[in-house]
Amino acid sequence: MSRIKIKDKTFETSITEAEILEKVERVAAKLNKDMEGKNPLFLAVLNGSFMYASDLMKFVTIPCEISFVRVASYDGTESSGKVAELLGLNEDIEGREVVIVEDIVDTGNTMKRMLEMLRKKNPAGLHISTLLLKPGKLQVPLDIEYAAMEIPNDFIVGYGLDYDQQGRNLRDIYTLVQE
Ligand code: IMP
Ligand code: MG
Repeated sequence: MSRIKIKDKTFETSITEAEILEKVERVAAKLNKDMEGKNPLFLAVLNGSFMYASDLMKFVTIPCEISFVRVASYDGTESSGKVAELLGLNEDIEGREVVIVEDIVDTGNTMKRMLEMLRKKNPAGLHISTLLLKPGKLQVPLDIEYAAMEIPNDFIVGYGLDYDQQGRNLRDIYTLVQE
């Protein structure tokens, strides 16, 4: 276990790279089974999912495609507050099996909006694969078929996830130390 400092905060190793890879391989094995013969399109959500997407794809052995999207959210005038927009989707997903690849599902609001936007494009199936899930924070009902790991409600960085854009390059996952 090691402690690091990012900007004003201190973090401590909580999940090592070896543990992460073991869990990622397990998710890939399930996907290889479930998606066999379906030529799924993996849609990785930038920036946070880049490391997870990369490692996951190395364990996926069935024919498939991968592409990258971004969710831009800004304050709108609707009562819901935030308005989301999906950027970078150039593929026609109609009739296809789509697997969203996310870094983390926290409240689930980002994923909910993403599903709404993708559903309008009539895919055959929409599946969620997230590296991390905080079940204690989930506010909306989501069917998450492929979660590599469940974690407590703490704030984490590393393996693609950031604190104020820092820490995405860390190989292990670190948890914020309460001071
Ligand atoms: P949600 O809409 O509340 O589910 O939040 C999803 C987004 O918040 C994720 O895609 C992350 O970018 C960010 N996020 C949530 N929890 C954490 C965390 O512990 N560390 C870093 N980013 C987080
Ligand atoms: Mg994200």
